[in-house]
Amino acid sequence: MDAPYSDYQCARKERIALTLPVPFYRHDLGQPELTEIANVFAGPMLTTGEKVGEFERLFAGYLGRRYALAVTSCTGALHMSLLALDIGPGCEVITTPMTFVATSTAIMEAGARPVFVDVEPDTGNLDARLVEAAITARTRAILPVHLYGLMCDMRALREIADRFGLAIIEDCAHCVEGARDGICPGELSDTACFSFYATKNLTCGEGGAVVTDRDDLIEKLRPLRLHGMTKTAADRQREGYRHWDVTMLGWKYNMDNIQAAILIPQMRRLEAKLKERERLAQRYTELLADVPGVKLPTSRPNSIHARHLFPIWVDPAKRDQLIGELSKRRIETVVNYRAIHLLTYLKNELGCRQGDFPAAERIGAETLSLPFYPTMPLEFVDIVADAVASVLHPAAAVRAVG
Ligand SMILES: Cc1ncc(COP(=O)(O)O)c(C=O)c1O
Repeated sequence: MDAPYSDYQCARKERIALTLPVPFYRHDLGQPELTEIANVFAGPMLTTGEKVGEFERLFAGYLGRRYALAVTSCTGALHMSLLALDIGPGCEVITTPMTFVATSTAIMEAGARPVFVDVEPDTGNLDARLVEAAITARTRAILPVHLYGLMCDMRALREIADRFGLAIIEDCAHCVEGARDGICPGELSDTACFSFYATKNLTCGEGGAVVTDRDDLIEKLRPLRLHGMTKTAADRQREGYRHWDVTMLGWKYNMDNIQAAILIPQMRRLEAKLKERERLAQRYTELLADVPGVKLPTSRPNSIHARHLFPIWVDPAKRDQLIGELSKRRIETVVNYRAIHLLTYLKNELGCRQGDFPAAERIGAETLSLPFYPTMPLEFVDIVADAVASVLHPAAAVRAVG
């Protein structure tokens, strides 16, 4: 039987019960973003214009990179990066099976073939030690993902890429604020791609960016973002109408001024929000580290973890039941991710089988992401940790909290 709560805990539980359910994620957008949107509404340009340029400068500056191009998604940013690097049919790109499916579908959209390499069992990040063995004459790039917000070993990946003449495209959908060994996202790669999807650390609902230091790539990426056109609506507005041309096949990936207006004020809170997420992560870690049957992914020395998600790894036989029991207690969780090489389309298309990438498959079967967002009250962390412990160990005493 559960140990009785102390009076203090009971009072606190009642107080918290008033604010349940515990959502998986809540954005913190409000008046600063509304004010910026109003500024856009007051001007003539809803589509790509000055606000987008302002955001691009802020974002590139934050990362210490020369160029940022704001787009409609990370998927688009990945796709454009591959095209700008002339990676297409007949080419292979080495990547991870422990990611959101877009990492690989972007490669397939470009006409190239994802070649999976297994991940580090304790972080879920692409295992740099296994990359070399997967390189063939067709390999053109390495596409690592900084899973959950922990950067991959970019120094090791760059060394391999240089030795074999490969490009690196970073999928930084989880990692704006991270760093490792003094290296920031985008610093050692040819391009780095970011997501501003609804649950990301920096969000405008849907959006993304590609950053690069390379002049030749930014020259290709700009027209790729908008139909290969030589003039944009903003040029028209500034210079008056001039005939434009299409000099290459481009896509429709341009971010608009309204999306940029939502992102600009968030750049000022990025570091403060990271501190909040770090505080929540530490609390979760304190409460869950010793719960039998709960494993936490590890970090790496000399790393600033961007703390995008807070996953736990549990016995695969109990994972889905745990999700169900937490849901009954109105605690929302998500699985990030089941190993993508086993999803029907990729499995069929790429000929993958169960057992091909054991570390990714194990994490995919064990993982669930707990509620985690910067404005989340610490009490919610206590409630969630308590619920996880009591579902996994119904007979054990309720963990002391607070
Ligand atoms: C690791 C990873 N890569 C790529 C993407 C795709 O991002 P977007 O939805 O902005 O295209 C996501 C989005 O969730 C992601 O988590």
